[in-house]
This record gives sequence, C-alpha cells and structure tokens, in this order.
Amino acid sequence: KYTQSVQEGPLRDRIAVEGKHQLLSVDQFTRESVEDLFRVADMMQPIARRQKVSRVLEGAVLGNLFFEASTRTRVSFGSAFCRLGGSVCDTTGFTFSSMAKGESIYDTSRVMSGYVDAMVIRHPEQGSVAEFARATNIPVVNGGDGPGEHPSQALLDLYTILTEFSRLGKLLDGAHIAMVGDLKYGRTVHSLIKLMALYKNVKFSLISPKGLEMPAYIIEQASRNGNMIEQKSSLAEGLAGADVIYATRVQKERFANEENEGYTPDFQINRAIIDAYCSPETIVMHPLPRDSRPGANDLSVDLNHDPRLAIFRQTDNGIPIRMAIFAVLLGVEGLVQHSMRDVTWRHPSHVG
Ligand code: CP
Repeated sequence: KYTQSVQEGPLRDRIAVEGKHQLLSVDQFTRESVEDLFRVADMMQPIARRQKVSRVLEGAVLGNLFFEASTRTRVSFGSAFCRLGGSVCDTTGFTFSSMAKGESIYDTSRVMSGYVDAMVIRHPEQGSVAEFARATNIPVVNGGDGPGEHPSQALLDLYTILTEFSRLGKLLDGAHIAMVGDLKYGRTVHSLIKLMALYKNVKFSLISPKGLEMPAYIIEQASRNGNMIEQKSSLAEGLAGADVIYATRVQKERFANEENEGYTPDFQINRAIIDAYCSPETIVMHPLPRDSRPGANDLSVDLNHDPRLAIFRQTDNGIPIRMAIFAVLLGVEGLVQHSMRDVTWRHPSHVG
C-alpha cells in the first residue's frame, strides 16, 4: 500500500525539530518519512490486535497532560505506551494542575521532564505545545493545540485511508477527497489536508458553511504536487465522485461569538446523502467525537451499520499509529519485532 521506498537513517532524526525528537506538526514529514512511520505501525498491528505483547518500553513513564476534553487521544496514547511495556501518569484539566495557581508552561515542562520520559500535551492555545517542547529535551507530542494542529489524528487518518484504498485497489494519488463541516476551527482537517498534499494530483472539495472555511494559509500550503482545491458551500456541489468523505464536528467551543449561525442541516452526512451522491466504495470518515445531541446535525447514526463508515476502523488504528510514534521518538522501533511474545489471554471484542 506504500509507494515510496524505505529511506536510510533513523526516522526520528529525519523528522526531528531543531535536533529534538518531537511531534508537533505534520510539516515535519515527507511522503517517504510518513510511509516509513506507517511501516512501523504495520509492525505494531499484532500487539494492537492483542495477538502479541511487547515490553520494549519497560521502565519508561509517559506524562499525559490534557488541558482540554479528550477521550480518544488521551486514552489511546496511554494505552499505546502501556502496550509497549511503559507506564502512564495523567493530569486532566487546568483545575487539577498547578497551572490553576499561575504556573507557566516553561516551569511545568521543565518540572515534568524530571518525572517522565515523554509527554503528550493537549492545550487550548495554538502554539502552546511547541512552547512546552522548547522548554525540554524529552520527546513531546502535540495532542491538539487549540485550532492549530492534531498531527497524530492526521497520521491515523491517512493510515486509514491508505489501508482502505489498498483493500479497494485505489491510490491516493489522483483521488477525490471531500472535507465537510467546520474547516476553520477543526484542527484535524488542518493537519490532514497538509499531510495528504504530500501525494499527487489529489482533488480536494472543501465544503463548509459560510464563515467556517479552511484558513487561506493552509489552502496555499496544500496547493502543490498538482493538487486541486475547490471550495463549495453545499454538499450537492462537492460530494459527487468523492473517494473519501471526511466529516467534522462544528467546534462551537472555539467560537468567539454567534458566528455559527450560517451552519444549517444541509451539511449533515447521512444515509440519504450518501445514497444520493456516493458510490459503494466511498469511505466515510470523521475524527470523532460526533455530536449526537438533537439538532447538532453531525455525522448521522443511521450509517452505523454501513460498511462504508470507517470511523471505528479509524479509532482502532489510533493504537498502532501512536505505538509507532512512541517507538520512533524513543528510538526503539528496531527492537520491537524481537521483543514480541504471544499473549496468554484473549481479547473478547471485535479487535483481533
Ligand atoms: N479525535 C479526537 O481528538 O478525539 P478526542 O477529543 O476524544 O481525543
């Protein structure tokens, strides 16, 4: 499913930021290095599927610092670290951190560096995770910085697209990707479009309510490699022929005022829309959470049993991708294969 050959040299050095082993932005990746990371994620699949165990990170401690709400990112990063044999220390929200007493990002980061071996940070301000990273030499991973970036989500999304396309005999080069909803504040789409723009001749249909369009600087960055970007304000204009529909939640918590007034039910992705505009091979994705409250008009639950809905395949892929991120940043990816042992128990879910 990968088109680029394996590159020479440690992956963590090739994606480093000023010599530091961190993951702050998808801008750190080339097409070659992102596919090398996915090869590491493929190697992690037996562990993620509970067929094998590994203790390659035994003795290492992860600091999971989440100053904004999260289920998937916080738990899957923690689970990924534990499944490689490490341990996790958590802090959630400002209330239960000494930032509530006025402690700075610099002091918090320096202090945490003495306690843990890597940090994953989610913070409501764009650029804040980079500020944490500047204050330490331990690996820092951006778990979402306000409306900025969410690189691990984009990596698991691209990994999911390439996996689904491989099953369907498609390539991302030349594909049609429709992104729908709040493209202004949705940090996952900011990271994902930049990552997909490493591929060639991709057509991006950006469908958003007025006022919630993709920022111009991201459109400019994604307009390379022969990629074509069209901005639409209705589903009917942008969905036809799409290979992937990537729906997003409206990030009302980031609105400064009543700027969401233009958001109408016309943007909901549901069975009727899919049946009207899409083929049996269209993939429907969403970073989740989806807003299930009445009137929210987020991705409909009426697609839950449709095989085109890939949202839970996305969430499952969060584990091997985040294991790969840790293995690469901590420089142990070469040890994983030899560290694997069979499990002595069986996971009862759909996984594995
Ligand atoms: N996709 C995502 O970031 O989910 P959480 O907010 O639950 O972490």
